[in-house]
This record gives sequence, structure tokens and C-alpha cells, in this order.
Amino acid sequence: MESAPPTLRTLADRRGLLIGACVADRPLADDPLYAALLARELNAVVPENMMKMGPLRPSRDRWNWGPADSIVAFAQQHRMKVRGHTLAWHGSLPAWVTGGNFAQAELRGILEEHIRGVVGHYRGRVFAWDVVNEAVDGETGGLRPMWAAALGPECLDLAFRWAHEADPQAQLFYNDFGGEGLTAKSAAIYRLVSGMLGRGVPVHGVGLQMHVGLHDYPSPAGLAANINRLAALGLQVHVTELDVQIQRGLGTPQERLAAQARVYGDLVAACLDTGRCQAILTWGVTDRYSWIPHHTGRPDAPLLFDEAGRPKPAYEAVAAALRERTPA
Ligand code: G3I
Repeated sequence: MESAPPTLRTLADRRGLLIGACVADRPLADDPLYAALLARELNAVVPENMMKMGPLRPSRDRWNWGPADSIVAFAQQHRMKVRGHTLAWHGSLPAWVTGGNFAQAELRGILEEHIRGVVGHYRGRVFAWDVVNEAVDGETGGLRPMWAAALGPECLDLAFRWAHEADPQAQLFYNDFGGEGLTAKSAAIYRLVSGMLGRGVPVHGVGLQMHVGLHDYPSPAGLAANINRLAALGLQVHVTELDVQIQRGLGTPQERLAAQARVYGDLVAACLDTGRCQAILTWGVTDRYSWIPHHTGRPDAPLLFDEAGRPKPAYEAVAAALRERTPA
């Protein structure tokens, strides 16, 4: 009997690459196919929402560890690595913070307490954190108001220092979208992390979210150039939230799925060819649980597995990119 083709996990393990996806606690608990697919095909996970401040801290003195703990426990049971997402972001903030009318010093105290509490709770179980998410304003290249005004620019460095003190082994990342190729935003991110390194801030990597579409994605050459210049700073690079929307595309559904496969294959190949991308995670496991239809209000199929968890042409393209580049 012909043996089954190697899974993405097998192909990635051969290369020492992390291949993963963001995970939601409800389908993980309720959908056995979802859990089985995760454990079979992937070697890394990141909680989609349950480590964000809003879900984690419904009130200042209540920590809702359960849902994120269930994802971490699943990962440990299946020998998977866990990325933590995210410690400091202008999104998914709880109402007691956004409505608290806090002065800057109070906000900094709340953020320090939060970062030390979360990183301390997961110390030794989360190997990498998105410490700061989406602080750069793509229009101006400067910092978003949360950092430029509410917390103050120095607080971005402090966030990384607090996380490092809470878990000195954890790899600490700056994570953002729109800065994958050679763009004004990626130049701003490069300047930001260069400055942090120059000040001795413990930043260890940059997360490239890579939310793209059939007609708007970074050129493989631009992506590789950006990865290489970040790596030249001594930084790691993770692709943290890869998905490829197909709703905005011409052609039949089959033609769009084929085009999607080419985009996935080209982007993954470009990352692998640099030899400086340590992790590639998609933002969601199967199309059924993608955030995109909720975000756009239109159906989509952005991931590697379809609504029923079956591999799509995009899966085959990623597997091929891994096979063609994985050391024997
Ligand atoms: O859990 C509540 C539910 O109880 C309630 O009934 C429902 C309706 O209000 O909301 C549910 O919470 C939603 C949550 O997703 C879980 O589904 C929030 O409203 C919704 O805002 C939240 O959206 C998430 C979004 O980040 C904001 O946190 C998406 O699922 C998630 O995919 C998305 O992920 C972000 C990354 O963290 C950062 N990069 C961009 C990426 C896409 O926006």
C-alpha cells in the first residue's frame, strides 16, 4: 500500500521550521476534526484571541486564563510550540482600560502589571511573544496614538524590557501588517527595531503578518530583501498571520483557488529561500473559522484547508515549496 504523503509538519520538522496556525479555543474543544488536523499537520500554534488583553482581563482583578490555557495544554500534549499574541495592542482592549480615563503613569502601570502577569503565567510554555502589535502608523511611518501619546514612545521599549524580565528565555517580537515587502511601512518598522536594538532593548524578531490577496501581495524579491535586512540586524523573522483572500479576484472559483495556490507557494518559497525565516503561521486553520468573512462581510476561502478541513491547492503548493527546499 502506498504510504501517505508527508504532512506539512513532517516536511517542516525535517527543515527545523515551525509551521502553524492561530487557534480558537471553542473549535479546539468542540470540533475533533479541527484538533486532529492541527496535531497532524502543524508543529506550532498561536491563540487567535484568548491571550489578548480584552478576553484575558475582563476586569482589572480578574484573569480569564482558561481558554488560552486550554490551547497551551493542547500544544504541550502534541509537542507543539506556542507563540503568544499579543501583550500590547490598541485592539482588543477591555472597557475598563479604554473607559478608565487613566493618566499616562497609570496606563504604564497597568501595562507593566499586565505584561509581567501574562508572561509570568506562561513562562517556559510560550517560546515567543508578539510583545507589541501594530504600533506603526502605515500612513505617517510614526507611532500610533496609543504609543505616541497615551503611553509615550519610551513605553514601547519598556514593554519589551518588562516581558524580558518576566521570562528571559522568551523570544520577543514586534508584529505588524503591511510591512512584508520593501514598503514605506517596512522601512519605518526597520527604523523602529534598529533604534530599539541600538538602545539595548531585548527585541529578538519581527513578525510579518502577511494578510494578502490574489492581487495585493509582496513581490517574492521584495519579501526576501526585507527578511534579509532584518536578519542582518541579528533579528529572527516569523510570518505570523498568513492568509490569502480570494473574494476579490477574477475567474471561476477553481481559477481563483489555483491563483491562491501560486501566491502561497511563491511567498513560502521566498521565505524559505532566504534561510532566515524560522516560522510560518497562517491566521486560521480551515476556511470555516477564518476571521475574514466576519471582517469583510463576504464569503472567502483564505486558508490551506477548506470548510471541511480538506487540503486545498494552496496546501499542495506549500507542501511542494517545503519538499523542494527541505534538506533530504
Ligand atoms: O467572543 C465574543 C462573543 O462572545 C460575542 O458574542 C461576539 C459578538 O460581539 O464577539 C466575540 O468576540 C469577537 C472575537 O473576535 C472572537 O470571535 C470580537 O468581537 C472580535 O472583534 C474579535 O475579532 C478578532 C480581531 O483580531 C480583534 O481582536 C479576530 O477574531 C481575529 O482574527 C483578529 O486577529 C487580528 C490579530 O490579532 C492582529 N492582526 C490582525 C488580525 C486580523 O484582524
